[in-house]
Amino acid sequence: MYHSLDANLVGTIFAILTNESIISKFYATNEDVTLAIHHLRRDYMFGSLSLKDLPSDPWQLFESWFKQLQEAELPSWFELNAMTLSTSSEGNTTARIKGAQDTKGVSSRVVLLKHIDQGGFTFFTNYESEKGQQISLQPRVALHFFWPIFDRQVRVEGLAEKTSAEVSDAYFAARPRSSQLGAIASPQSQPIDDEAKLEQAVRDLEFQFEGKSIPRPKNWGGYRVVPNMFEFWQGKPSRLHDRFQYRKEESKDSWSVTRLAP
Ligand SMILES: Cc1cc2nc3c(=O)[nH]c(=O)nc-3n(C[C@H](O)[C@H](O)[C@H](O)COP(=O)(O)O)c2cc1C
Repeated sequence: MYHSLDANLVGTIFAILTNESIISKFYATNEDVTLAIHHLRRDYMFGSLSLKDLPSDPWQLFESWFKQLQEAELPSWFELNAMTLSTSSEGNTTARIKGAQDTKGVSSRVVLLKHIDQGGFTFFTNYESEKGQQISLQPRVALHFFWPIFDRQVRVEGLAEKTSAEVSDAYFAARPRSSQLGAIASPQSQPIDDEAKLEQAVRDLEFQFEGKSIPRPKNWGGYRVVPNMFEFWQGKPSRLHDRFQYRKEESKDSWSVTRLAP
């Protein structure tokens, strides 16, 4: 009895699985999704870049593009100072990132640009996070900005250095209290088994620091990325987009500019 029931059940499942209309529907759906992505395409209409109009200093161009964003009426959800930071432990492939599953080659994540000066891009983070550990192994990093409203991207490569304790202290002190407590309580990038423990750690810290100012933890602070390469990309309707790469001349203070094929 049970055997025949099982056999019937298996037969039914097999029939369902091999039912052509189900299979064809599955593939059709996949194909639709693929096609839907394949057809996504925007026309880049905003403008163009020409060598004769480029400043000799890439910071000037970066700042003018950034200013244009600040002056544009952008939706409130658009974080114009968000940038992708890529780090790598390259050159130290045997080094293990503490807490990570395995040695990491290269990784990217978004961080917020908090300060620009003619010489560096500053962001703040946990020095013991994955990115922090990678930077301590290999300070060469890349930054990436994507500003679709103006059909633009900016790529930056350079060396990351820790900001001074004074700079990190000043920024930490200016953060909301909840962010300060979060920075202390969260062992960024480490596996945690229970969110409740993290919330409890924040409550304990609230109690510990009640009525007092919160000092910056030593494992939290800023990095300043000092670039030796900028690339400015301006999308064009023709798809023959403009790309200009600035490279810092070795041991000089000046930059060379090259047009790159799109
Ligand atoms: C919009 C946005 C802004 C972020 N800003 C920061 C930041 O300024 N600093 C930071 O440490 N993480 C920031 N994060 C979180 C990081 O992307 C990342 O999850 C975290 O830093 C851990 O990265 P890691 O494990 O590679 O070190 C931000 C994420 C988003 C989506």
